Amino acid sequence: MKTLKVLDLFAGGGGFSTGFLQSKNINVEFEIVKAVELDQAASDTLRGHLGEERVIQGDITCTSTKEKIYKTCSDVDVVIGGPPCQTFSLAGPARSGTAEMREKLKNDSRNTLYKHFFEIVDYIKPTFVVFENVEGMLSKKVDATQGLNNKQVQVIELICDELESKGYTTNIENSISDRFQVLNAAEYGVPQHRRRIIIIANRLGCENPRLEPTNGFFDKPSFLTVKHSIAHLPVRLPRISVSRLDNLKNIDVIRKNYRKSLSFFIESLEILAIKEAETKKLQGLEQLYKRLKEESEYIKGKRSYKIYNLKKFIALYNELILEYGINEFEDSFHLKNHQSREHNFRDIIIFIKTKQGSNSARFMNRASDDYNEFLDSLYPYNKSKHKDTYVKHSWGKPSNTILAHMEKDGLKFIHPEQPRTLTPYEAQLLQSFPEDYIFCGGRNDQYRQIGNAVPPKLAQSIGRSLIHLYEKSSAINSEVSIG
Ligand SMILES: C[S@@+](CC[C@H](N)C(=O)[O-])C[C@H]1O[C@@H](n2cnc3c(N)ncnc32)[C@H](O)[C@@H]1O
Repeated sequence: MKTLKVLDLFAGGGGFSTGFLQSKNINVEFEIVKAVELDQAASDTLRGHLGEERVIQGDITCTSTKEKIYKTCSDVDVVIGGPPCQTFSLAGPARSGTAEMREKLKNDSRNTLYKHFFEIVDYIKPTFVVFENVEGMLSKKVDATQGLNNKQVQVIELICDELESKGYTTNIENSISDRFQVLNAAEYGVPQHRRRIIIIANRLGCENPRLEPTNGFFDKPSFLTVKHSIAHLPVRLPRISVSRLDNLKNIDVIRKNYRKSLSFFIESLEILAIKEAETKKLQGLEQLYKRLKEESEYIKGKRSYKIYNLKKFIALYNELILEYGINEFEDSFHLKNHQSREHNFRDIIIFIKTKQGSNSARFMNRASDDYNEFLDSLYPYNKSKHKDTYVKHSWGKPSNTILAHMEKDGLKFIHPEQPRTLTPYEAQLLQSFPEDYIFCGGRNDQYRQIGNAVPPKLAQSIGRSLIHLYEKSSAINSEVSIG
């Protein structure tokens, strides 16, 4: 068995490494010699999976970190990595922020971290390099002539040129000019649409493999779906915040429609309770539904709306989800990260009434089939600037791209059926991490590591293609030496 030694730079919570470890065949396997990461929680996650001795926690731009890398990784065969991508990303301020924010991002040092990646590659000179980044990097251009003739060049082309100048081949087989690939994770067995660019480079003088999709084409299995990945998980209900209820933007709309709003909430619990009764998974849900239905009837019977009554109702709900053990771990340790964040009552009503697979841009658009006057009036954000704040997933499709932004809020990741956003554990499965993979840190640390990761299943396909290249080049070399 040949072992190809790997150095994982900007390793995050270990998506890239996990996929490489999964991609062995009977002749070749990968070993992660070192994974380098700055963030505490992500480094803890890596230590848990790879072992303490394989993690260098430090800043890649610092000489001391580079020295540790050079001391321990001089003989690695493969360097993999995806430097952070704040300025390249199609999501977030790079796309939608103010001019000031965009200017700040332009000067963000994270924009040049990839240069450290290539400095390390140049020192170690591994046989293979795999560079991964967001698709938004394709639109990133720089003036390559230091202002001499103002010629804007794509950063991705510069990176390929840089690799070529260091003796690497970046060309892809069966093509005249392609040097990088844009891959949609859904086409590689990941239940999520996620488009990423990769460059594969080698010092063997061989053309690099073009990855063959495994899913979604006429002769291949179809895409994996949200249902396939998370429908089996136990129901989770969010705590609902009570204290700031009076100050919520547009709470007036709830006030004017409080009977209707309570009915929506109770109906959504009823649907869950009926389903759970069929599968006999969670008896507590039915009891919860019955108790809250009674309470809601009592409030609805009152002649006028009182915020006090709604607060009391929510407080009772919060108590009962504990009392009936709705969010308990059961026996499974890895389900500890399957917990919902807290939500407010207005958002919960929006979650419930948004149609599966639809979003706020649609429910506010009078021309759309999904137009909903009530939701339109409840929408609390600036309608001219941000229309797509709320997105509800559908069971029957791959999920939208899981983003590190989930650490801030999960409004673009509403569960298809339950009145909440996705838990870290659901995001982990939609990113194709193994079921028993444990992310360290608090809930937001987990969302960040998961949202930043290369989906292991995609990384596995990349690893397999590298093994294929390695075996092909070894076969050619042995033919040459025999000849
Ligand atoms: C896009 S994520 C990488 C995800 C990873 N490839 C995976 O598959 O899970 C980039 C990572 O680089 C780390 N990072 C940022 N600046 C760094 C630095 N100067 N030195 C080391 N790591 C850094 C971030 O903490 C983040 O976890």
